Amino acid sequence: MPLLNAPQRALYHAFVEQGLDTWLARLPEQFARGLDRKRHGDLPAWEKAVAKLPPLPEERAVHLDQDCVSVEVALTDAERRRCENLLRKLMPWRKGPFCLGGIVIDTEWRSDWKWQRVAPHLSSLEGRRILDVGGGSGYHAWRMAGKGAAFVLVIDPSPRFYYQFQAVRHFVGAAEGGRTHFLPVGIEDVPEKLAFFDTVFSMGVLYHRASPLDHLVQLKDALRPGGELVLETLVVEGDESTVFMPGERYAAMPNVYFLPSSAALCHWLERCGFQDIRVVDEAVTSLDEQRSTEWMTFQSLKDFLDSEDRSRTIEGHPAPRRAVIVARKS
Ligand SMILES: C[S@@+](CC[C@H](N)C(=O)[O-])C[C@H]1O[C@@H](n2cnc3c(N)ncnc32)[C@H](O)[C@@H]1O
Repeated sequence: MPLLNAPQRALYHAFVEQGLDTWLARLPEQFARGLDRKRHGDLPAWEKAVAKLPPLPEERAVHLDQDCVSVEVALTDAERRRCENLLRKLMPWRKGPFCLGGIVIDTEWRSDWKWQRVAPHLSSLEGRRILDVGGGSGYHAWRMAGKGAAFVLVIDPSPRFYYQFQAVRHFVGAAEGGRTHFLPVGIEDVPEKLAFFDTVFSMGVLYHRASPLDHLVQLKDALRPGGELVLETLVVEGDESTVFMPGERYAAMPNVYFLPSSAALCHWLERCGFQDIRVVDEAVTSLDEQRSTEWMTFQSLKDFLDSEDRSRTIEGHPAPRRAVIVARKS
């Protein structure tokens, strides 16, 4: 087994502490596959950028319960410049914002806006064990930790997001960061019928799944009986029988499969055996929520909408509308 770094050791310890024995045995293979250098040409550069972040003073103030996930820590000007250069090597930064030692990472997404739509409708996260499926850079996972969660696990197969998470964790530090972990794997790598987590989040993932019902069942299997599912996905307007499947691309994104109406999605959840299903929010994504920034310089939502009719994508489909649904496993 390769030498583990500090965050990996922390994750192994957490799995032991949580009694996740069957999964624990698979971690070496999952890490090796998730961080295989052959997966992405830039992976060694990202790894190096995180490893080169300078050691930080122990004394720091960590704010996980505010819109911009922030760590106040005293850095010299030279240290700040060095950190900023290293953090820029992990661009594009899509999910945030973060403020690390005075460096403001203005990400493509105002992920705090999504959190504001979701958070008021959740059962208390205090002391809970949480899985964030497709959690991106881990922005929402830090917010969950900020609400007092006991154990937060992000799974996401993107190695870039893995290293972005580790960079943020470097600033957060072991004391505050010890409850929040990232495993670079997909939902299909979660052991079957785990029945473990108190809350499972799947935000921005369902429409990328070719078999959405299988995804809902996988999420259910990861929950303990009585646990809470938080599902956020693209929807279309319509009734219980409305489901839209775009062509090759939707708002320039490949791999977009099923966009149900909220009512249809509730029906799917019911058929998969969920209870107490509630649509707690539905809104059209605004151009201020997803936009190009200094930390994500590629095209963004405004380029993917029809410039003459913002209610349509460039392919002529309905513009992105997202729903948040909360449900319970019986
Ligand atoms: C649109 S992003 C959503 C990020 C974040 N949850 C949010 O709501 O802002 C979808 C994420 O799903 C991840 N993903 C792709 N395939 C996945 C899989 N099989 N299992 C889990 N996550 C996956 C992607 O890497 C990406 O980070």
